[in-house]
Amino acid sequence: MTKKRLQWGLLSTARINERLIPCLKKSNHNELLAIASRSRNVADHYAESHGISRAYASYESMLEDPDIDVVYLSLPNSLHKEWVIKCAEAGKHVLCEKPLAISPEEVSEIAEAAKKNEIIVQEAAMMRFHAQTSYVRELVVQEKIGIIRMVRGLFSFTLKRPDDYRFDSKMGGGSLWDLGSYCVSFSRAILGAEPVEVYAIQNDKRGVDLSFSGHLVFSSGVFFHFFSSFDAFAHIEADLLGTEGHIYLDMPWLNRLNRSATIQIVCDDGSKDESTFSDGLDNRKTDRKIYHKVNAYQDEVESMTRSILYGETPVISLKDSFNNISVITALYQSAREGKPIRL
Ligand SMILES: NC(=O)c1ccc[n+]([C@@H]2O[C@H](COP(=O)([O-])OP(=O)(O)OC[C@H]3O[C@@H](n4cnc5c(N)ncnc54)[C@H](OP(=O)(O)O)[C@@H]3O)[C@@H](O)[C@H]2O)c1
Repeated sequence: MTKKRLQWGLLSTARINERLIPCLKKSNHNELLAIASRSRNVADHYAESHGISRAYASYESMLEDPDIDVVYLSLPNSLHKEWVIKCAEAGKHVLCEKPLAISPEEVSEIAEAAKKNEIIVQEAAMMRFHAQTSYVRELVVQEKIGIIRMVRGLFSFTLKRPDDYRFDSKMGGGSLWDLGSYCVSFSRAILGAEPVEVYAIQNDKRGVDLSFSGHLVFSSGVFFHFFSSFDAFAHIEADLLGTEGHIYLDMPWLNRLNRSATIQIVCDDGSKDESTFSDGLDNRKTDRKIYHKVNAYQDEVESMTRSILYGETPVISLKDSFNNISVITALYQSAREGKPIRL
């Protein structure tokens, strides 16, 4: 692409836009040009309150604007595929919120439309753009804690908005699509591998999984266990246990500018183990890497921009999204059928 600046349009007035808007405004390579909503009043009010120059009263009308290069798509999950394809057919690149779609078949349709229309589509799973995720991958590759045996992830909060689409299975609701999808993506990314088998249990009292417990087995023998919930105290954490150490992350899948993220690495300190049971619990050293004021949404925007302008390989390929969504649908199948699913 010969342009040096990209013009963006926001497709919907979703709450998550609040994280992207300051990043687009701050970026040297991007300009936030337009907002589209299903309602004229909402679009106009949103444009005025966020300092956006063009307001569209339908998603279609924004896609007809020839000045828009990239669309940030933040609709409920079940609408992603339809609107990513409409954006592609209008010749717009798309940064689409996670999950990119709600079945692997939908991702294939998106990939076909992206190829045909020569545009870039990328899933906006912010955590994958955060420097700490690639750092953990480096630690795994370097065998900093030896051979990985187990990974765990937890992501929960209490969902108190009764009308939220997250309570509607037809809209792609459920705690696995919303929260557990981060855990699955994290495990695949840091292990650099795909699971061969999954097993899951869910609590679906409201027609969607309010709580979900999933297990993945990788061909190397690593076990990954995660828990996601809309029905528990807000908590996030991830950890990895290896043959020679332990890694703990206190903010693996959220990003707050006012809160640092810490990676704690515990290994043997090299001293002689003189404890009664020689269990090694007393001979330890702890290293910490702290990320202050990192804005991973900014990194997500800039990375997408480099892919469009300079052809940089996207952090999350469509094949990667396809694989993540295949694992998620297999986990749902396992929870429904009460048996492990081979992938
Ligand atoms: N990356 C992250 O950190 C992160 C965090 C939160 C959410 N997300 C993702 O972002 C997406 C949006 O989540 P959100 O919680 O921000 O959404 P939200 O606030 O519920 O807003 C969704 C928007 O979609 C539009 N919409 C179109 N048809 C709709 C329908 N039938 N029902 C409801 N809304 C409809 C509405 O905009 P108009 O009325 O303007 O048309 C609405 O404001 C999801 O895919 C979610 O997984 C990502």
